[in-house]
Amino acid sequence: MKTNTEKFGVTPHQPSLWTRADALKVRADDPTTTQPLVRADFPVLSDDVFIWDTMPLRDLDGNVTSVDGWSVIFTLTADRHPNDPQYLDEDGNYDILRDWNDRHGRAKMYYWFSRTGKNWELGGRVMAEGVSPTAREWAGTPILLNDRGEVDLYYTAVTPGATIVKVRGRVVTTEHGVSMVGFEKVKPLFEADGNMYQTEAQNAFWGFRDPWPFRDPNDGKLYMLFEGNVAGERGSHKVGEAEIGDVPPGYEDVGNSRFQTACVGIAVARDADGDDWEMLPPLLTAVGVNDQTERPHFVFQDGKYYLFTISHTFTYGDGVTGPDGVYGFVADSLFGPYVPLNGSGLVLGNPSSQPFQTYSHYVMPNGLVTSFIDSVPTDETGTQIRVGGTEAPTVGMKIKGQQTFVVAEYDYGYIPPMLDVTLK
Ligand code: FRU
Repeated sequence: MKTNTEKFGVTPHQPSLWTRADALKVRADDPTTTQPLVRADFPVLSDDVFIWDTMPLRDLDGNVTSVDGWSVIFTLTADRHPNDPQYLDEDGNYDILRDWNDRHGRAKMYYWFSRTGKNWELGGRVMAEGVSPTAREWAGTPILLNDRGEVDLYYTAVTPGATIVKVRGRVVTTEHGVSMVGFEKVKPLFEADGNMYQTEAQNAFWGFRDPWPFRDPNDGKLYMLFEGNVAGERGSHKVGEAEIGDVPPGYEDVGNSRFQTACVGIAVARDADGDDWEMLPPLLTAVGVNDQTERPHFVFQDGKYYLFTISHTFTYGDGVTGPDGVYGFVADSLFGPYVPLNGSGLVLGNPSSQPFQTYSHYVMPNGLVTSFIDSVPTDETGTQIRVGGTEAPTVGMKIKGQQTFVVAEYDYGYIPPMLDVTLK
């Protein structure tokens, strides 16, 4: 019997491993891999909504694309409730932190537009209420398909379950702004299978989300990255020699790190339109290291595959740690082997004095890294914080061989286009 990988003309591959030894090399506060401090007096995009994961409109090759001179971003978005009795504390003050922490349950896809690649104007919801089949519209990718303005929005339909879906619509521009039309029929694509990717039945804390479709610059085929966990019942995973790596004496104890089972998944399309997909084994696994490798994405540069993914301090396993931020791996071919960038994988982490200042970093092919502000301390002790729910300053980064370097900082939410498409 032919394996899936043989059927689709894709080379069978072994997942690359992010090992505990690699993670031991993580150094928080290294200035070349640390995001500059975000000031507590940041501006907010909107007083009405929180935004977090930011998804620039792009083409299938990864280029951030404007249309008729308009830049467009999609964001996970939730209403702010400053006057809702549910979010008032005992003293009658707005408990913004609780409101912010509840946002995932009511996440919706919104879009914004701009002439300058910053100072975003709110466009509105992408799908009308009732179009998306589940309660939560979680992260994904908007793809501009052609100069007729057709857009495929891949995203994750969550609760109940977690299904990778897509919905097709169209971007329309005028001299005054941008609108999204259509986006009326959501097509389910696939769910975790329990053989390669962990299901909810195997682990109530499973992750299966964040589709990132792309055209492979070498074979020209349509693929998709996504976040997953390695299949198997929770607690059944083995953290063996391969997962531990080459550690110094005294570092063999893995504690309870068998509960950390993140992976970067990949699927290949059976058709040109990306309506029919086949999951392949993960590209990268982090068993024994970390439980979440979220929003995986590529930068194709110098003939190499730079794989980026975001992760948290709290999702690391026993005995290893690192800051919230974006981690990266590089390979000479799509299916690896992948080597952690900067030795450890850490590419851009929060400074230890402001561990939650930003998250959900997205590395664009021009080296700019966008993220959102989560919370920033407003006093010395860090007990008082200001909640963000808005765009962070963009960071400029250089990618060279197996290393990355922070080299610049730009305005809040600066996401300039790499190419412009004139709509017919
Ligand atoms: C990253 C993330 C995504 C998910 C979304 C849910 O910030 O956890 O993986 O799609 O946020 O709000």
